[in-house]
Amino acid sequence: MRSTEAYVRALPKAELHLHIEGTLEPELAFRLAQKHGVALPYDSVAQLRAAYDFTDLQSFLTLYYALADVLQDADDFYELALSYLQRAHEQGVVHAEIFFDPQTHTARGVAFGAVVEGLSRALAEAERRFGMTYRLIACILRHLSAAEAMDTLHEVLEYREIIGAVGLDSSEVGHPPSKFAEVFEHARRKGLLTVAHAGEEGPPDYIYEALDLLAVERIDHGVRCEEDPALMQRLVREQVALTVCPLSNVKLRVFDDIEQHNLKRLLEAGLRVTVNSDDPAYFGGYLLENYLAVERALGLTRPQLATLARNSIEGSFLDADAKRRWIEAIDACASEAASG
Ligand code: HPA
Ligand code: ZN
Repeated sequence: MRSTEAYVRALPKAELHLHIEGTLEPELAFRLAQKHGVALPYDSVAQLRAAYDFTDLQSFLTLYYALADVLQDADDFYELALSYLQRAHEQGVVHAEIFFDPQTHTARGVAFGAVVEGLSRALAEAERRFGMTYRLIACILRHLSAAEAMDTLHEVLEYREIIGAVGLDSSEVGHPPSKFAEVFEHARRKGLLTVAHAGEEGPPDYIYEALDLLAVERIDHGVRCEEDPALMQRLVREQVALTVCPLSNVKLRVFDDIEQHNLKRLLEAGLRVTVNSDDPAYFGGYLLENYLAVERALGLTRPQLATLARNSIEGSFLDADAKRRWIEAIDACASEAASG
């Protein structure tokens, strides 16, 4: 029987919760800092890595936004994204729905078009070289105003052929989904799909708001749904995908340790749970490491690992035909493992 690692790697998987800025490895950060003459407040890669000791979401975001300063031209975004896509491909990711934060870059004077150009060049190359498919999701920074979000949406709409959806991220508590109801309504009217971070640090009410006021297709994180049994029942009934990020949740202290993570309980309650890496350069692992961490800590079975992979395909924005083909491939992988 092959190892669990080989099994998970072989399962075709979609990654649905991945911030491209969160794939900035310290080595690349230093190289780009040198390229652009940006001073980083750290002397070495080791010193920077040592700063990845977060106490909550905000402590992470502060460092994450500061390091994003090194991303300045289209080539930087191309290199960032291609490194991620190469790694994801090696881990059996066949489809990636990638977040980026336009406001983090436009606020520094980086053109929206440069960000999109670099990212789409990498995505097209990954499609050509690895057969990977993708969607691009522009996230609204929720700590900024609804008016600024609307301005950003107008820029997003200029790249309507490349950007398929809008999301909502950054500091959650105090910035409920309701703040952006109008912006998301406009996005949907223009044909964009919507997703939102909710129930990571924020309460179950934020998950209701994301569903009812933003009409999201899925919930990013959503782990705090467990505090509300009626919400759990609804998520099961409507089969809303949750894009859960186990290593992120431990690094940002949503759970004290990986053994306390509720992923297995949510899965066994019938929710459409998926596994994702969020900001892998900061949280200690890419998609494969996230699967293996929960497998080991929570004792997931191989059929449960296959269910997580199936959920990632079902919860994606792929069309019905592509979904059917990947589900068949996952079924084949799972039955080969069961018989061998
Ligand atoms: N939550 C909110 N905003 C983010 C995250 C997250 O986990 N990662 C990057 N931006
Ligand atoms: Zn996230």
